[in-house]
Amino acid sequence: MKVRVPNMDFSRIRALWAPVPEFAQSYNAFSIVPAHIEPYLMKVMRRAKDVLDPKHEQLHEEIAIFNKQEMEHCKNHVAFNRALYDQGYGDLREVEKPYQQDYVRFLKDKSLRFNVAYCEGFEAMGSAAAQVFFEDLDGYLDGADSEAVDLWKWHLAEEFEHREVCYKVYKTLYGNGPFAYLYRIAVFIYAMTHIGGYTARAQKYLIGVDRASMSEDERQASIAREKALGKKVASSSKKYLFQVFSPFYDPGKKKPSPGMQEILDRYDTSNTVTP
Ligand SMILES: [Fe+2]
Ligand SMILES: [Fe+2]
Repeated sequence: MKVRVPNMDFSRIRALWAPVPEFAQSYNAFSIVPAHIEPYLMKVMRRAKDVLDPKHEQLHEEIAIFNKQEMEHCKNHVAFNRALYDQGYGDLREVEKPYQQDYVRFLKDKSLRFNVAYCEGFEAMGSAAAQVFFEDLDGYLDGADSEAVDLWKWHLAEEFEHREVCYKVYKTLYGNGPFAYLYRIAVFIYAMTHIGGYTARAQKYLIGVDRASMSEDERQASIAREKALGKKVASSSKKYLFQVFSPFYDPGKKKPSPGMQEILDRYDTSNTVTP
């Protein structure tokens, strides 16, 4: 694991950066997640670090790198999202507000056990999302603008790279017993529903803005493309997310997808900070 600082430039990014506009908007909707969840992840991991025995030296180091990676992800997605607001999608912020407030509330009212399990739930979704993006979406990525594709590839490859950190923190703090397992699953389902609800709202808003200027025929074609995309992403995600429900789930055993190492290596050569 390494911290990479890719210095991405979104000044010329187009909101509809892929040949299938609904695909671009669906990932634009997902981009609200890192803007808010990643600062929360960092805070939860800092709290976990405070109670984690110093003898788990390696895990302490991994959390420090994890947090630096998440900070870079967040910075780049916030910059990307600003470019979206400036292109006529400013009300996306209205979808984001209650989402951001939820994390403030979680940190204030929920137990560390809940927050660590939620972080692990999100990280399990992140490594599955990485596999979907690298393995199953070539048809949607062909001909897409490189700035947006690179943002997602770099981010998701690092999500895959650090996929074990929250899982190890959860196991180290709360053990391997049946309660720890059931609690992990319950909060994983909660996290998927919580995050999925906000991204669905964001997608509806973004695609809704585009459809406002479409003819009826164009609108019907857009609805058909969105449905086909939803089906494809859902069936692909299921394949990877199913494993998370196993009591023997271990993200460390997952094999990286082709292309992940290549993108990590690309950003290793410039502006890399090794902690
Ligand atoms: Fe991230
Ligand atoms: Fe992550």
